[in-house]
Amino acid sequence: MDFKGKTAIITGSGKGIGRDCAEILTKNGGNAVIADFNLDLAQQTAEYLTKKGRNAKAVQTDVSKVSDIQKMVKFTIETFGGIDILINNAGIFHPTPIAEITEEEWDHIMAVNLKSVFFVTQKVLPYMIRQNHGKIVNLSSLAGRNGGVACGLGYSASKAGIIGLTRGFAAQLAKYHINVNAVAPGSTDTGILSGLSEAETKRVMSSIPLGRYGKIKEISSAITFLCSAEADFITGAVLDINGGMYYG
Ligand code: NAI
Repeated sequence: MDFKGKTAIITGSGKGIGRDCAEILTKNGGNAVIADFNLDLAQQTAEYLTKKGRNAKAVQTDVSKVSDIQKMVKFTIETFGGIDILINNAGIFHPTPIAEITEEEWDHIMAVNLKSVFFVTQKVLPYMIRQNHGKIVNLSSLAGRNGGVACGLGYSASKAGIIGLTRGFAAQLAKYHINVNAVAPGSTDTGILSGLSEAETKRVMSSIPLGRYGKIKEISSAITFLCSAEADFITGAVLDINGGMYYG
């Protein structure tokens, strides 16, 4: 995969799957904007990549706020001059039981996980449309496909909504050669699942046909493939990466 001269915004890339996407994209010649709510993590990632001779810049962004999204896009244009790739990766996981989900928690998870995907895409689009190409990958989840095993339903619903946005954007943006796809990972070893109890962890693990959590690299490789020229004919797709769980 060759990303020479391509600029990518990766939300939530201070750690986990997003950080590894930045690692792969910059290793193959791309420029990465490390946009994260947590400025320390974003700066650590950018510094780590810069020390390796890569092009990466950190910007503090809360993707649930449109004003922050606009600042992130402005920063990217001023720093690198364009936007070729967008990875809508930032997400939060709350395994809250049905009876305990409050209106505030519901609104927050929707704002971070779903509203953000719409508005980050909306603000990036003018630049992609102008250059008549672009690649967008959205992080859905197995929970958005099957309702989830040990998930709060706010999480499941937000991740299902991302699939609707992915298909809608793909249909409307194909005429500008902008590809929009989603990946739907199953349980992946990033720490995001550390809020699960021991019993829930056992239950999740025993329900995965391949018998283990996914590795970060197994998700980031698929995401960056969808950002590459090799994936030019793929749009509106949802790639399930879950150790066989969805079909198990
Ligand atoms: P993670 O928790 O390791 O990293 C998420 C990053 O997003 C953190 O750096 C955090 O600071 C940042 N973030 C949180 N709220 C933010 C906000 N409002 N604005 C900007 N950044 C924010 O997450 P992980 O595991 O790497 O997951 C990445 C994506 O993949 C998420 O959308 C998640 O829902 C999805 N996913 C993860 C799975 C897993 O098992 N790890 C399974 C299925 C989907």
